[in-house]
Amino acid sequence: MNVTIIGLGYVGLVNAVVFASYNHDVIGFDVDKEKVSLLKQGISPIDEDGVQILLSEAKHKIRFTTNAKDAIRPNSLISIAVDTPPDEEGNIDMKNFNNAVELIAENAAQDSIVCIHSTVPLGTNRKVKQYLESHSKYKFEVVSMPMFVREGTALRDFVSPSRIIIGTDSPKVEKEIRSVVESFLVKKVPIMVTTPENAEVIKCASNTYLAMRVSFINEIARICEYIGADIDKVSLGVSLDPRIGLSYFKPSVGYGGTFYPKDNLQPKNELSVLGEQFVLSRAIIESNKKQIQFFIDKIFKRFKSITNFKVAVLGLSYKGDTEDVRNSPAIKVVRALLDKYAEIYAYDPLGEDNFKKLFIRHTHIHYMDYAKDALAKADFAVILNDSNEFKNLTIDDFKVMKHMVIFDGKNLYKLENMKGAEYHSVGRPTIGLTK
Ligand SMILES: NC(=O)c1ccc[n+]([C@@H]2O[C@H](COP(=O)([O-])OP(=O)(O)OC[C@H]3O[C@@H](n4cnc5c(N)ncnc54)[C@H](O)[C@@H]3O)[C@@H](O)[C@H]2O)c1
Repeated sequence: MNVTIIGLGYVGLVNAVVFASYNHDVIGFDVDKEKVSLLKQGISPIDEDGVQILLSEAKHKIRFTTNAKDAIRPNSLISIAVDTPPDEEGNIDMKNFNNAVELIAENAAQDSIVCIHSTVPLGTNRKVKQYLESHSKYKFEVVSMPMFVREGTALRDFVSPSRIIIGTDSPKVEKEIRSVVESFLVKKVPIMVTTPENAEVIKCASNTYLAMRVSFINEIARICEYIGADIDKVSLGVSLDPRIGLSYFKPSVGYGGTFYPKDNLQPKNELSVLGEQFVLSRAIIESNKKQIQFFIDKIFKRFKSITNFKVAVLGLSYKGDTEDVRNSPAIKVVRALLDKYAEIYAYDPLGEDNFKKLFIRHTHIHYMDYAKDALAKADFAVILNDSNEFKNLTIDDFKVMKHMVIFDGKNLYKLENMKGAEYHSVGRPTIGLTK
């Protein structure tokens, strides 16, 4: 099949290389000239397991362009995977998405199937169809196919997802999409065909539920800290109920990334206009903000002043082993430390470049090549993501710091392994407090 992918980020590029490696004829279109130039040279702009290999292997089946006219061909499936960034309140910026839809309307040369992978507000599917048909002389089928991939394992998740949701009313579109999907799945997974509205709500509801679980356990972790309980024991005890389980049940400094903030049924989406606001989403967003602030306050309670203190910050991306810093808790934590005149020694080889773009004029952040170099400079350390490298650090690695004080926002270490340090984690007793 001919496939055009609009937007070549984590979702779009993974789509593109998988389709190409299963012999579909793929055109990848992006407005980012630098990205397309790298891709034309066969270089993946994202550091995602397996993508570079597939890109190299499938190069004869895939072409990249910044020219919408070239990209939007007749007889092709046109997939939209552009970024739809959320603000702090979870509201979605649809500028890029709307632009992609306009480009399709302008350049389509016959009836087409448009597939929405981007995360969009409820009701978008019907609006897109209406827009396309009123701005072009052709007919469009618009299918909603939410993606359930996670950065770091996007390729694996794409070919082996928990389920495939196809949101369409058209049996013809269902048949075509099924045949494409079945061409790349590496195992049998449930394929659910449903209305576009159902597909849109399924995506939002799934991610809202996950955000709710994470926020719930963060709330319980705060309670544990207040009363001197241990969240490891508490979450285990709760999760032994088979109705609850342990997945997405680990407390942390707070969630980040682009998914939960917006998939969390947007407080200001169309539903709220109708007076049907989903009250839980407001609570989830508030809870997450509170969790990050709680972590920051913990540092400031421990040190009355951190002026000129050197702080090793391990982890800038919102989660380990990805370069994505969007809505990363590290942004708020680093900002709070800088506001109190600390000197930051940051280490995160994957997140560094993107983080630098957010803190352009800050001369008090020093980016280090090795974790041990950041720690060697530091008065104390703050851990903000769960990269495998950080998980493998031992207490001996922290001994180079001036004070053996660690604030671990990801609970990476067992308490019994941290004896000898002053170790603050999330929802667990602080050990080794010296004052
Ligand atoms: N990243 C994930 O794991 C994930 C998972 C599920 C769903 N999603 C959703 O999928 C969508 C894409 O996410 P992503 O993480 O791949 O985004 P991304 O930021 O990594 O990539 C988006 C790409 O779209 C390009 N773009 C923007 N406007 C464009 C336009 N008008 N025409 C062509 N290209 C354009 C950008 O230059 C960028 O390269 C988002 O809506 C996201 O919420 C992402």
